[in-house]
Amino acid sequence: MKQVKFMLDEDRIPTHWYNILSDLPEPMAPSLNPQTGEPVGPDDLAAIFPMELIMQEVSDQREIEIPEEVQQYYRQWRPSPLHRAYQLEKALDTPAHIYYKYEGCSPVGSHKLNTAIAQAYYNREAGIKHLITETGAGQWGTALSLAGAAMGIDVKVFMVNVSYNQKPYRRAMIETYGGEVIASPSNQTEAGRNILAEHPDSSGSLGIAISEAVEVARMRDDANYSLGSVLNHVMLHQTVIGKEALLQMEMAGEYPDVVIGCSGGGSNFAGISFPFIGEKLRDGKKTRIIAVEPTSCPTLTKGTYAYDFGDVAGLTPMMKMHTLGHGFVPESIHAGGLRYHGMSPIVSHLHELGQIEAQAFAQNTCFEAGVQFARAEGIVPAPESTHAIRSAINEALRCKAEGRSEVILFNLSGHGHLDMQAYMDFNAGLLEDHEYEVDEVKSALADLPSV
Ligand SMILES: Cc1ncc(COP(=O)(O)O)c(C=O)c1O
Repeated sequence: MKQVKFMLDEDRIPTHWYNILSDLPEPMAPSLNPQTGEPVGPDDLAAIFPMELIMQEVSDQREIEIPEEVQQYYRQWRPSPLHRAYQLEKALDTPAHIYYKYEGCSPVGSHKLNTAIAQAYYNREAGIKHLITETGAGQWGTALSLAGAAMGIDVKVFMVNVSYNQKPYRRAMIETYGGEVIASPSNQTEAGRNILAEHPDSSGSLGIAISEAVEVARMRDDANYSLGSVLNHVMLHQTVIGKEALLQMEMAGEYPDVVIGCSGGGSNFAGISFPFIGEKLRDGKKTRIIAVEPTSCPTLTKGTYAYDFGDVAGLTPMMKMHTLGHGFVPESIHAGGLRYHGMSPIVSHLHELGQIEAQAFAQNTCFEAGVQFARAEGIVPAPESTHAIRSAINEALRCKAEGRSEVILFNLSGHGHLDMQAYMDFNAGLLEDHEYEVDEVKSALADLPSV
């Protein structure tokens, strides 16, 4: 018998997160205050984030201790299993060894709970009673609602309009955990009303929903904003994925030649890859690291590396990142979590440093890969995760053509059990492929803040 799942005992769940800032060969460009153009300091962020998270944002400590209470919560779904994809390898007839880390076994169905529980914890410790956020596909909103229930915090979620309509069961799940869901753009905020005045049928975007959430969070002292991706502290919390994977690959007696993750704001990609990039930076390992995005929102592959806002209304600090312009509204693809105009500044920085590669695929070829994976391995992946699977299958087929048995590791960031409308549309041949609109991006890039 061959071992399929590599499982760690609960007492091997990481006790510390890995902070890649400590190993960077060149520091990141600072985020800038949108009013003054000066680097943001802790006070600029204190209106919407607790101080512990602000300090994590800029820490240069390599290992940051995970609070005991968060470690205890992690035990409800961590360690997540590492699978060897024997059945997929057989289906592809490839000499490559394919492994996947399965984050869909968390109660909410994705990696998002790894940071949601930590963020809710630090907010509760700071006396916060309300958390406001946005959600793309609904995975993040679900995760923060559960984390809010765990920590006794009310959660309000602005859900991107297209996903609000595509994914009613995500809405129901958020409400079941006690969260409130509002379709974005909404009439509850100035940012939302401005968009609706110009585009009454707006499909929404993560950039719009972030503006709404930040606006509401600023209104009360006992309310904060919470972001499910992009920022350094979110990337940090997700490194439990890669830290476990390092131990599990060791159990399997292998080391990956290629590490792959899909990338919306960058958090699950960072989670699986940063601990491996750390080994590259410190020990000179040669691992290839690949971030995968949709062709309809190709931030890393086609975006500009420049200062931009994280949201449409320009309420957030300006961050140096790969961006398609904060006003860019991507096509309504089913991978709602990948529809973000920007990319995590730290992932962008690593791309500029040549530490990571980026690939973009259209949604039909990703769903084809997702279906092939489901038929072989049994798990129906989230539409976002199918992008990582597309890349992993392509790499495995390259290995077959070249007769090489490379080791490929990818992050299966979530299951797609609440995304079945997407699979129904794909199975019925109704999905359209979208290339990004050059003209729209051009006009959105014309609005980049001058720095
Ligand atoms: C299952 C899943 N994977 C990936 C993503 C993309 O986000 P990130 O790039 O932050 O991991 C999302 C976002 O909603 C998601 O739900």
